Amino acid sequence: MNAEQQRDFSMLLSGLADAFRQEDRKGGIEAATALSKADISGYRSMTSDKDPSRLLAKISELDNCQPMMKLVAKCQSLLAWTCWEGSGLESEISSKLFTTELVGPDGHIPAENVRIGLLASESWTDYPVSNHSGEETYFVIAGVAEWTVGKSDYAPRQPGEFVHHPAWELHGRRTLDEPFLGAWRWSGDLDLSSFSVARS
Ligand SMILES: [Fe+2]
Repeated sequence: MNAEQQRDFSMLLSGLADAFRQEDRKGGIEAATALSKADISGYRSMTSDKDPSRLLAKISELDNCQPMMKLVAKCQSLLAWTCWEGSGLESEISSKLFTTELVGPDGHIPAENVRIGLLASESWTDYPVSNHSGEETYFVIAGVAEWTVGKSDYAPRQPGEFVHHPAWELHGRRTLDEPFLGAWRWSGDLDLSSFSVARS
């Protein structure tokens, strides 16, 4: 990582720390603390399975992006992206969901008690109702998507909003004509294999 990349990556992590601090929830504070303490010199380079550059370029063109979208675009080549695959998630949907873990047990910056990452979704993608062990919050960075949490009807969530999913709570997100980018954080039980799509 060169000096410019170090600066951009540090700014991205501190921007996310500022965002999750505003969540005003214990897990948000844990995430903000981990992001603030993240030591760039401990950056672990990992191989990217997927290249989301075309999708991130489309997202960057949206006029509702939070300012940190520019930093995500600048840092994208430093990040190991993969398509999110979980129990019950069809490959047609998975292939439209690109995720990366920034800070956490499997992240570019090691941390034990939280996972913090990014997820980009193509437009017209119905990420089905699912749940998992980790308590989770999304911070919407770009794109208006519709969400359901628990028994609530699908409702649009705007950039700058937080969407909270208590541990094991069912939740789903569908994009319409805009692609989406969000930052996510997990606290509590960080077992990714706990994820599964709800049976309908
Ligand atoms: Fe989730």
